[in-house]
Amino acid sequence: MTDLTQLQQQAEAELAAAQDESALEAWRIKYLGRKGLIPAAVRQIGSLPPEARAEYGKAVNRLKQSIQQAYEQRREALKEASLAAELEAVGFDVTLPGRRPQVGRLHPISRTLRRIYRIFGDMGFQIYTARDVETDEFNFQLLNFPKGHPAREMQDTFHTTLPDVLLRTHTSPGQIRAMRDYYPEPIRVILPGKCYRYEQVTARSEMMFFQVEGLAVGHDITFADLKGTLQAFAEQLFGAGRRLRFRCSHFPFTEPSAEVDIDCILCGGKGCRVCKYTGWLEILGCGMVHPNVLRNGGYDPDVYSGYAFGMGPERIAMLLHGIDDIRYFYANDARFLPQFA
Ligand code: DAH
Repeated sequence: MTDLTQLQQQAEAELAAAQDESALEAWRIKYLGRKGLIPAAVRQIGSLPPEARAEYGKAVNRLKQSIQQAYEQRREALKEASLAAELEAVGFDVTLPGRRPQVGRLHPISRTLRRIYRIFGDMGFQIYTARDVETDEFNFQLLNFPKGHPAREMQDTFHTTLPDVLLRTHTSPGQIRAMRDYYPEPIRVILPGKCYRYEQVTARSEMMFFQVEGLAVGHDITFADLKGTLQAFAEQLFGAGRRLRFRCSHFPFTEPSAEVDIDCILCGGKGCRVCKYTGWLEILGCGMVHPNVLRNGGYDPDVYSGYAFGMGPERIAMLLHGIDDIRYFYANDARFLPQFA
């Protein structure tokens, strides 16, 4: 018969000496494993005379329980000690503040576009999206730029390898697409989107940029409607009391045509570096839709009239935020972009 007291002392002493997981596991196999010393002591119950079994049985079960408990405690203690050692080794300081994840935000041009959408949306304009890849016919011919027309010189074009398929140079071809879609209903849409020009990239021009076109077609639409709409727009975007100036200009698809300036938002019209001492900042082109263009969209110019305008959101964002180089917008500079919240 095993000496249980001695077994317990021996087991406890060896358990206390087990300093790591593998020593602990060796201990467990030796004492608690299927062929270990504790199960062997338990099995001895069967070989005892019946009168001795009860006492021995109780004692061996107590021993087994106590040893098992001691084992669990030791296991926990070793686990904690090894975690503490690990933390110590990497110099991990749980009291340090966490690392803030970088939060993304909308691009300044997306923000500007949304402001423009909201202003025109409130005036009843819907957004009409047209394609970026256009044909020569829609980008130029239907807008009154016949082949060889000198006005084409103003819009250096990316051509594709397909004949007469190109990247649109402006959002104006969407006017024709909107008219052909809406006819014979009246139209009040803005057409935002990317445009492309085969140009030297400078502080003032990019190869890719946005435009927001506007188009209204209906009965009795006049230049006064155009002026009122643009005045309301400019006041919403740039502040109440803005003055607008309409200068005669030329676009093949509008007649008459104008370029629109606002009084300089920096100096209020007195003259400064931003407005080049003129007191005015150009913000868009506009005019009454040319009769040929109305006709190309399916609307009879004797029955319908309309106005159109086109603006560059990059230029507007530059004015609003005092940015002097358009290239910042698309250079993906993480020092520039987060400034616009
Ligand atoms: N499409 C012109 C351009 O890219 C901008 C423009 C001017 C659009 C006058 C218009 C307009 O609708 O009426 O230069």
